[in-house]
Amino acid sequence: MGSISDSGVASELESESTTCSRQRVLVTGCNGQIGQVLVPALQARYGESNVFDSDMRGNASITLDVTDVAALTATLHRVQPTQIYHLAAVLSATGEQDPVRAWQVNLNGYFNVLEAAVACGVKQVFFPSTIAVYGPDAPREATPDSAPTRPTTIYGIAKAAGENLAAWYRKKHDLDVRVLRYPGIIGWESAPGGGTTDYAVEIFHAAIHGQDFKCPLGPDRALPMLAMQDAIRGTIEFMEAAPEKILQPSGYNLGGFSAAPMDFAAEITRAIPNFKIDYAPDHRDSIAASWPAGLDDSSARRDWGWQPRYNLRTLSSAMLGHIGAAVAASAADSACEALGTAAAVNAA
Ligand SMILES: NC(=O)c1ccc[n+]([C@@H]2O[C@H](COP(=O)([O-])OP(=O)(O)OC[C@H]3O[C@@H](n4cnc5c(N)ncnc54)[C@H](O)[C@@H]3O)[C@@H](O)[C@H]2O)c1
Repeated sequence: MGSISDSGVASELESESTTCSRQRVLVTGCNGQIGQVLVPALQARYGESNVFDSDMRGNASITLDVTDVAALTATLHRVQPTQIYHLAAVLSATGEQDPVRAWQVNLNGYFNVLEAAVACGVKQVFFPSTIAVYGPDAPREATPDSAPTRPTTIYGIAKAAGENLAAWYRKKHDLDVRVLRYPGIIGWESAPGGGTTDYAVEIFHAAIHGQDFKCPLGPDRALPMLAMQDAIRGTIEFMEAAPEKILQPSGYNLGGFSAAPMDFAAEITRAIPNFKIDYAPDHRDSIAASWPAGLDDSSARRDWGWQPRYNLRTLSSAMLGHIGAAVAASAADSACEALGTAAAVNAA
């Protein structure tokens, strides 16, 4: 387990301000990798009854497809949120396989959210952008927020357009749309949903289960990464920052650390010496090749005090600790169940 406290994001945020108690929050795409961790953090911060989780699938309290304008508008009228965290999306690797759906959800769905937000008097919208907005002509090392955004994936193209839409709604409708450019998010809490950096979560699960790992990226394909706990804390801090601190017109890079598959493998091997990895680069390696290898997030640090807490070593250690503990607990549950069944059979 890492030396950093990973007992929960809410306890690491600054104490509540008076605005906290007045927030009513709607989250779209709540059943994804980020939503499953963000929703409990928002509930701990603003109160369970003030956070409304929605998704088009799974057991969300509100079933909502963001491409359905009528359902979206009706939900906003009913919930009357002050803030929307708009997470619903089709991620990079899946988007390249199904560009029509990626465009419909990532751009049209988001446009619907912005229109409905204006119509229903919502104050703030969070739009999670991505390092995929950068293309091959951006500097690969320490890519700054000011680098050109000429992406080559449908996911990146829709997100870059989304950043421009955010600026337009801020100017035209005085809607406070805030944008962070996330790198690959890595956490033990939830499974990733079709992104190019999913391998960086899956590798830990394979290692804990004693399986060899076939990596879809080349060994030295470095990408920017960020711990889930840091991402959630940073996102809430960003949304709570005073408006005069938000100076970046497009979006802020949210950096953590930079790592390649061979770096994760080396960390895992320190704890599990017989861990084995094979490299079979596929279409995800080509997507990653067009992205930055590392981010310059100095604007976020300077303007609103962003500070990541995890690095490659502490995050790897926390991933192995948490996933290992969950697997052990589930094995113990199964053993108890088996004993219970055996006892019942013997008694019968
Ligand atoms: N996870 C990352 O590493 C990462 C990195 C950069 C940016 N982001 C962005 O953060 C956001 C959340 O990412 P995530 O990793 O949780 O994604 P995810 O794929 O795990 O989850 C997305 C969720 O959106 C839902 N969804 C899809 N289409 C929908 C629709 N039409 N209506 C309502 N819900 C719909 C899905 O059911 C899913 O639960 C996305 O906008 C993504 O682009 C994520």
